[in-house]
Amino acid sequence: MTRTLVLSATHAGLSQAADLLRQGALVAMPTETVYGLAGDARSDMAVARIFAAKNRPRFNPLIVHLASLGQVRAIAHLTPLAERLARAFWPGPLTLVLPLAAGAGLSPLVTAGLDTVAIRLPAHPVARALLTRFGGPVAAPSANPSGRISPVTVAHVLAGLDGRIDAIVDGGDCPVGLESTILDATGTVPRLLREGGLPREAIEAVTGESLVTDPAPADRIAAPGQLPSHYAPRGAVRLEVRKPDPDEIWIGFGAACPGTNNLTLSETADLTEAAARLFHLLHRADALAGDGGRIAVAPIPDIGLGRAINDRLRRAAAPR
Ligand code: TXA
Ligand code: MG
Repeated sequence: MTRTLVLSATHAGLSQAADLLRQGALVAMPTETVYGLAGDARSDMAVARIFAAKNRPRFNPLIVHLASLGQVRAIAHLTPLAERLARAFWPGPLTLVLPLAAGAGLSPLVTAGLDTVAIRLPAHPVARALLTRFGGPVAAPSANPSGRISPVTVAHVLAGLDGRIDAIVDGGDCPVGLESTILDATGTVPRLLREGGLPREAIEAVTGESLVTDPAPADRIAAPGQLPSHYAPRGAVRLEVRKPDPDEIWIGFGAACPGTNNLTLSETADLTEAAARLFHLLHRADALAGDGGRIAVAPIPDIGLGRAINDRLRRAAAPR
């Protein structure tokens, strides 16, 4: 593969993208959370190419993206709990792990051989249009090389994967800016597997119970996003910094911690704005600091979307 086609989100561009997916090719698509690297979830070759393009060290299970609840029923068992959560939050930044249906027809690489499957109905109009045209299940991890910062613009995707994937559909910036929240909904009580773009408080308001965080026993297959080091810039990252060292690139939050180089997650300490800007600013700080540089990040309150932001920052700062 030599170059990656940049397609516009027009009828012609989306038709071409859907045709490429039918041929087993890889197409990066915008979602409301981050750009996903899409491939036909029924094709072993397409799914294997996803792992190869990302240089993923292990065959971790992938999220299956669909356009409608009818499609979900063909692939997974919608538990009563899942029905409630789907009604409240789909389409949107929520992924549900559900029992895999018999005859689902997915490549076993998508589920890593598990008897469960992670499913999401994205809300982004371009993702929905592409999924509707394609008409089948699409596996899509974030469209970045494994371990690196997730992409929220076309430029981020190309910086990491140009020449390694067939095409990208240009949908502008991703509005939420953080990956989906993942819940295990196989039982009667949801278990939180990954903090993300849907805040825990919103889920608790629907279930009426405080959310159980999965203890993630060692025998479960861990998500790359659950690895200690992930979402990492090249330079070292230091957290909860109110006063940076002179050589540090400082990412700020709120008026008291303004950041350097205009790198402020939110001047007004708005967590939704901070989530949407997080990966933008990590990419920019990464470019400014370079190899061996140092990045400092202001404290972020651990409520609402702040929990997912802090989760990503802890992994960006973890020893590699
Ligand atoms: O926002 C998002 O979720 C983005 C966009 C593109 O939709 N996708 C994304 O995919 O973040 P990825 O591959 O980076 O994360 C997939 C996560 C992994 O952490 C994996 O462990 C979990 O989903 N997962 C997938 N199948 C699972 C299963 N059967 N049981 C438990 N976890 C599962
Ligand atoms: Mg990822």
